[in-house]
Order: sequence, then structure tokens, then C-alpha cells
Amino acid sequence: MAKVMVFDHPLIQHKVAMMRDKNTTSKEFRDLAREVAMLMAFEVTRDLPTKEVEIETPICKTKVNMLAGMDVAIVPILRAGLGFVDGMLEIIPNAKVGHVGLYRDPDTHEPVEYYCKLPEDIDKRRVIIVDPMLATGGSAVAAVDFVKKRGGKDISFMCLIAAPEGIEALTSAHPDVDIYIAAKDEKLNENAYIVPGLGDAGDRIFGTK
Ligand code: PRP
Ligand code: URA
Repeated sequence: MAKVMVFDHPLIQHKVAMMRDKNTTSKEFRDLAREVAMLMAFEVTRDLPTKEVEIETPICKTKVNMLAGMDVAIVPILRAGLGFVDGMLEIIPNAKVGHVGLYRDPDTHEPVEYYCKLPEDIDKRRVIIVDPMLATGGSAVAAVDFVKKRGGKDISFMCLIAAPEGIEALTSAHPDVDIYIAAKDEKLNENAYIVPGLGDAGDRIFGTK
């Protein structure tokens, strides 16, 4: 069964609140997305395996825990997911980055696929799919489908804001995928935008509207 974790950390809440504000500029929005991604990355990687190794401090020999070498793949859903990549890479610098291109059809709200390029060894990696918004869940479900079709097995989904409808869609379609959410909102409106949300994440990051 999927784990659904909603972050309640004050720093994350504060930064998400600033991102929601319509007066926040694209530059500020991008900076905040990077910072939130860094903060969330700590929790999303909490269960990465470690191994005991012996090292020598200036004082004595000792056994310490280090990452066991399970490699990570960060997979942003284009375009808005790109806003999370730099922050994640600051914390997990050896991660590889794959890309899944999807956009929502403005009338049907169904995801339309246009690109997919993943690391060749995706089947051996811990895959973290990132996208700021989980609205109807159509894009997230399609992105997980893409990754699974190419061999991905150990997959998590990380987003900024989720609607209950999107969480339900993703957990039903992929009960093996854990979901990490900075803030859970009330509902979707008639255009399938999250309420209160932050508007169109891609436009806010890239300043296209
Ligand atoms: C946004 C967002 C998600 C999707 C979420 O992307 O970044 O990918 O909508 O909506 P859903 O849960 O209903 O599928 P959008 O389709 O606007 O594309 P863009 O990132 O290219 O702007
Ligand atoms: N995509 C967005 O960018 N924002 C929403 O509220 C819903 C889907």
C-alpha cells in the first residue's frame, strides 16, 4: 500500500505559502522551488540503504554509516518538474536525471505524451518522479506508467501541492508508489486547477503568462 506523506515542517509551509502568492515573481518562485526541493529531499531519501564502513578520524579508528551505493534517478515531468531538479541535485549530486514530457490537454485535461528519456539502468535505481502539481493525477499516473514500462521498479512521487482527487488517482493506479507532498489542498475547480493552489506551475516557473 502506498505511503502518503504530507510535510508539516514550518520552513516548507512558509516557502509554499510564498509560492502561492500571486505577487511572487518567477525568479522568486524558482528560488523557492529549489529550496523546497532540497528540504523535501531529506525525507524522500530517508530509507536509502546505508552500510557500515571503517574509517579513521584524527582521534581513532571507528565504524560509520555511509550510503550503500543505491543509485537514484530524478525524473521531472516536463515542464514544471524541472523546477525541482537543481534542489534535488544539490542534496543527491550523483543522481542521474531522466525526463518525461507530458502536458494536459486544455479541454479534456488528459495527459498528452511528447517525450521520454530515462537513464539506461533505470531498473536498478531508486526513481523519484518530481512535479509541483498533482491535480487530477493523470500526468503522475502516466509518468509512472512510462517509468514502469522501461523497467523502473522502486518509484516514489514528490510534489508541492496535491488535490485529494490526484492522490486517490495515483494511489489507486500505482499502490506501490509512495507519495511525498508539501501541502494537501481542498479540491479541484471546474478547470481541474487546484484550489487554492498556486495557479499554473509551469507558467509561474518560466514566466510564460
Ligand atoms: C501541470 C503540472 C502537472 C500537471 C498536473 O503541467 O506540472 O504535470 O499539470 O495536472 P494533472 O494532475 O491533472 O495531470 P501542465 O500540463 O500544465 O504542463 P506544463 O508543465 O508543460 O505547463
Ligand atoms: N497544473 C497546474 O499547473 N496547476 C494546477 O492547479 C493544476 C494543474
